[in-house]
Parts: sequence; C-alpha cells; structure tokens
Amino acid sequence: MTDENRVIGNNGKLPWRLPSDLARFKENTQQTGVMIMGHNTYASILERNNKPLQGRKHIVLTRNKFLSSQYASVTFARSVEKALMEVTLSGGRAFVIGGGEIYRIFLQLPEVKRLYITTVYAPELSGDAYFPDIDMRYWKLIFGSTICQWDTKDEYETSHEMYLHLAQ
Ligand SMILES: NC(=O)c1ccc[n+]([C@@H]2O[C@H](COP(=O)([O-])OP(=O)(O)OC[C@H]3O[C@@H](n4cnc5c(N)ncnc54)[C@H](OP(=O)(O)O)[C@@H]3O)[C@@H](O)[C@H]2O)c1
Repeated sequence: MTDENRVIGNNGKLPWRLPSDLARFKENTQQTGVMIMGHNTYASILERNNKPLQGRKHIVLTRNKFLSSQYASVTFARSVEKALMEVTLSGGRAFVIGGGEIYRIFLQLPEVKRLYITTVYAPELSGDAYFPDIDMRYWKLIFGSTICQWDTKDEYETSHEMYLHLAQ
C-alpha cells in the first residue's frame, strides 16, 4: 500500500484506515502462507494485534542476535540469504510485506517476480517510511483496477495493480 508520493508508514503505523485492503492483504498472504518482513513491520503487527497474524509464517529480518520468538509461527532471520533459505524450507513462495527497508532490498532480487500494489489516493500525508522508487520499465502491468472506495469504512479511494517482472 502506498500513496501517490510513495508514503507507506508513519511512526511505525499505517497512515490510513483501509479495511478493504487489509482484507485483500489477508486473502493474498493466507494463500501463500509465508511472509517476509522487517523487524519494524513485525513490531507494528504485534502492537496492532498483540500477536502474530493467524495462519501465516512470519520470517522477520533483524540483525539482533539476541531475539528469540515465543511464537511457533515466527522465525527471525539475520540476513536476506537466511530469510530466502527459510522460504525454500517453507515451500518456496512468500509475500514480502514490507516495510520500506525490506522493500528496498527485496525489489532488487531476481527471486521477486510479482508486485501487488495498492495506490492510496490520499491528500498529502506525513510519512517516515517509503516504498522505493523502482524502474517500472522492467515490470509489466497484468491487472489494474478502477479507483474506488472499496469499503464504506475505507478512509480513501484506492486502486490495485499487479505487475510481473519482465525477466521472468
Ligand atoms: N503501507 C504498507 O504496505 C506497509 C507495509 C509494511 C510496513 N509498513 C509501515 O512501514 C513502516 C516500517 O518500515 P521500516 O522501513 O521502518 O522498517 P522495516 O523494513 O519493517 O524493518 C527494518 C528493520 O529490518 C531489519 N533489517 C533490515 N535490513 C536487514 C538485513 N539486511 N538483515 C537483517 N535485518 C535487516 C532491521 O531490524 P533490527 O533493527 O532489529 O536489526 C531494520 O531496523 C511502519 O510504519 C509500517 O507500518 C507499511
């Protein structure tokens, strides 16, 4: 989820309330069952839900060697290579769910083949986490929705796009 200025987060939280997109996120990630995320994003999930997201494995990147998880569904990976190894051990497919630092790293890897983007049409929002500025010439648009308020409780209109990497 990103706004038109690539803002994705502020103060460790999402800067909008979009139930329709959270439902879409849940459906997509439950299908794959495995998610890669940065430590800050994991912290924001715990803050919001008090526990990890149900039914999905969380591979959390951190350089902190002293962390250990109290949850069977959460594995800490100390490097990108170890995170990718965990994905292989977990069936070979995963969603990279952010945040900014993690998107920046993973969007440069050949393993990343699809992009699911929600664009949020919000007036200028303050943010401290951003989606990277990627070269869209290497991505082919496969699906693009209309711009719409998909749920009456959504704070803003959104559109959804799916891209495939052209090298795949
Ligand atoms: N709009 C969206 O779709 C979306 C999605 C996800 C998150 N968000 C938002 O984005 C913000 C969080 O993003 P962020 O950029 O601050 O943090 P982040 O990407 O979630 O996590 C960064 C952390 O990951 C670890 N890390 C990074 N590179 C690593 C590497 N190469 N090896 C091992 N560990 C590594 C480090 O953890 P340690 O410091 O523990 O070493 C680093 O501090 C929040 O506001 C969140 O709500 C938005």
